[in-house]
Amino acid sequence: MNSVLLLLVLTVFYLASASPSVKMETNSLDASVENSAFQTLDLRRPHTGSLYRAIPPANLSGVEVSVIRLRSRTLWRNGTNFRGFTLPPRTLPVPHVRRLAIVYQNLGNWSSQYYSMPGYSLITPVVGFKVYDASNIHSNSIIKLGLKTSGNPISIQFDALLNTSGKPSTGKCAAFYANGTVHLSAMGSAYTCYAQDQGRFSIIAPIPPETRKGKRGKCWVIGLALGFAGMASMCYVGFMFLRMSRSKKVQVMERQADDGELFKTVWVGGSKMPSATVTRTQPVLENGGLT
Ligand SMILES: *[C@@H]1O[C@H](CO)[C@@H](O)[C@H](O)[C@H]1NC(C)=O
Ligand SMILES: *[C@@H]1O[C@H](CO)[C@@H](O)[C@H](O)[C@H]1NC(C)=O
Ligand SMILES: *[C@@H]1O[C@H](CO)[C@@H](O)[C@H](O)[C@H]1NC(C)=O
Ligand SMILES: *[C@@H]1O[C@H](CO)[C@@H](O)[C@H](O)[C@H]1NC(C)=O
Ligand SMILES: *[C@@H]1O[C@H](CO)[C@@H](O)[C@H](O)[C@H]1NC(C)=O
Repeated sequence: MNSVLLLLVLTVFYLASASPSVKMETNSLDASVENSAFQTLDLRRPHTGSLYRAIPPANLSGVEVSVIRLRSRTLWRNGTNFRGFTLPPRTLPVPHVRRLAIVYQNLGNWSSQYYSMPGYSLITPVVGFKVYDASNIHSNSIIKLGLKTSGNPISIQFDALLNTSGKPSTGKCAAFYANGTVHLSAMGSAYTCYAQDQGRFSIIAPIPPETRKGKRGKCWVIGLALGFAGMASMCYVGFMFLRMSRSKKVQVMERQADDGELFKTVWVGGSKMPSATVTRTQPVLENGGLT
């Protein structure tokens, strides 16, 4: 009983103090963004180097998707910039392709639906970009590419604030990469972040302690309630068990009484002792037995 209780307490404690993690469920988002970007490329016969705005599906209204098609050679020579992102020269897609498409996205009011970190709030929308093979835009396959920079960072200038309740001075840049890792880094000059790879980016700030305290309090209340519920059910189970075994014992004793098999008692020396009907050795006292 004690060890079960200890386990329960430890579990509740663990749940309350689990380290902050990022929630991102972006598979359907990625697919929708890619599809709308490539439909746009297919329809518009795009000029190289121009940014085109795509129309995202209705279930993502409020998200901005734009696409730009470039020669890899141009990207290598000049770098490029679009919607606050600056890719430095000497940037290459891997594996090598002749033309690439850069798909830009701004999750706008959907940002916190897709990205959330307990204890932090997003103070800018989540923006990002991803590169694809665009050598043949009429092919039906969408081929993702890697990106190789030669040491110089990609810079991101945020221009919109999502939530002004977090203090900008405590803001940190968060980079959400496709492999699931999150890199936190210091903000550059006002609302500028730097990155080494394609991905999605935002500025996050710790939620002020007052609000967090309230949340933690809630956690403890839930934990306590769970603990009590657990204890109550343990007690109930224990009680039932006890009652069952007690009634069994009573049954056994009743049966024994019916069979007339009650223990006989014999007097040995000065004390009463139980003895079975047949005793192999008669009990004998060491000191007084020889008289
Ligand atoms: C939007 O809806 C389409 C089909 O109606 C679905 O395939 C897609 O996954 C949805 N996208 C998101 C981001 O929920
Ligand atoms: C975002 O705003 C659009 C309208 O601009 C709305 O249709 C959509 O439901 C909003 N999304 C969320 C998650 O609030
Ligand atoms: C790339 O930069 C060079 C100068 O460094 C300029 O002459 C050229 O027009 C640029 N090309 C593009 C596509 O911007
Ligand atoms: C995930 O991707 C980022 C950006 O490319 C890289 O810095 C990091 O090392 C990768 N992490 C893992 C575990 O692959
Ligand atoms: C802004 O942040 C506060 C906590 O700092 C949070 O309660 C609120 O929901 C956030 N608003 C939006 C629009 O994300």
